[in-house]
Amino acid sequence: MNPLAIKDNVYWVGAVDYSCRDFHGYSRSPQGTTYNAYLVLDEKITLFDTVKSGSISLMLQRIRELVDPEKIDYLVVNHVELDHAGCLGEIVNLCKPEKIFCSPMGLKSMQGHFDTEGWPIEVKKSGDTLSLGKRTVHFIEARMLHWPDSMFSYLAEDKLLLSNDAFGQNIACSERFADELDREVIEHAMKEYYHNIVQPFAPQVTKTLEQVAGLNLDIDMIAPDHGLIFRGKDDVAYALETYRRYAAPGWKKRAIVTYDTMWHSTERMACAIGDGLTEAGIPYHLLPLKANHHSAVMTAFADAGAVFVGSPTHNNGIMPGVADLLTYMKGLRPKCKIGAAFGSFGWSGEAPRAIHEWLEKMGFEMPVEPLTCNWVPKKDALEQCRAMGKSVGQALAERCATK
Ligand code: FEO
Repeated sequence: MNPLAIKDNVYWVGAVDYSCRDFHGYSRSPQGTTYNAYLVLDEKITLFDTVKSGSISLMLQRIRELVDPEKIDYLVVNHVELDHAGCLGEIVNLCKPEKIFCSPMGLKSMQGHFDTEGWPIEVKKSGDTLSLGKRTVHFIEARMLHWPDSMFSYLAEDKLLLSNDAFGQNIACSERFADELDREVIEHAMKEYYHNIVQPFAPQVTKTLEQVAGLNLDIDMIAPDHGLIFRGKDDVAYALETYRRYAAPGWKKRAIVTYDTMWHSTERMACAIGDGLTEAGIPYHLLPLKANHHSAVMTAFADAGAVFVGSPTHNNGIMPGVADLLTYMKGLRPKCKIGAAFGSFGWSGEAPRAIHEWLEKMGFEMPVEPLTCNWVPKKDALEQCRAMGKSVGQALAERCATK
């Protein structure tokens, strides 16, 4: 329940949500999450971001360990999404701040979410600054990373970048710094967060990273609004490089085979496709949709250059779980992918063709025709599946060799 000093007179005053499993209604957060807020004690006492509405008492308790919340002079709202601004109305009423700062698009978002009449809002654009007394805040708009209103705040004297959602991870734990956990844990959580939340905006990520690099900021700490804080030059470089890597398009020599199944025929096809991939020298993950949330599939897809999607034909169409995945995948706009479709059927067999068309519309390369199997796959059908896996695997290997 205590605040944590992350710099001299800069405190983490956020909330750890150990129960959160459904992140924003579309992604999963199997390890919970945090809503990080930061309080700066300077001549102008300033709170950067707040927390989800249900967590306000945790944040206020931490703030009260340091200062009476009514003494807060400034609120900086780097992003209006409700996991960071859900309690903004209550905080404004309680603190009666002298000023509330946000980006130009933040103003529109704030007006859309709250009754802001009488709120002392001041818009800050990229390049604008704000003196808190001993320190100066530099604002950097980070449009579409991941909302139009998203903004970074850089505290020059502290060498601290408050990055809002960027570089975030959904992890609920007692540690606050990334160097206190195994790197693999951080890497997986960053990958899951990026590829389920930020991925559609990869070009804007690259642009923002270039913008930050061009400013030649001296950064020795990146504090996101979810998860662990990156402290020290090495961890800062790691966070920046990880996002550069995620945002750069490129072919990956791995495949995923994901499917739903009724009576295991499509599942047998999936296993035989996997054998074909192995013959082509391509490692793969088999991801049955009854056991894997669409977020887990997209996290695995981050390391893959090919996806096989399988569904039995159900009522002349695809299984509901497959439709869910394809809808989710389409919105996340993955790049540099080969696709292939397969599935069993009893009497009509439309599903693989429908999947093929979905994947094609996503811009995937589709080197093979959709593969169907009537009823239960026997030796010949399984051989066709192996051939499909091998053929697509070889196409991926060629892609990776020429990238
Ligand atoms: Fe963590 Fe876009 O809010």
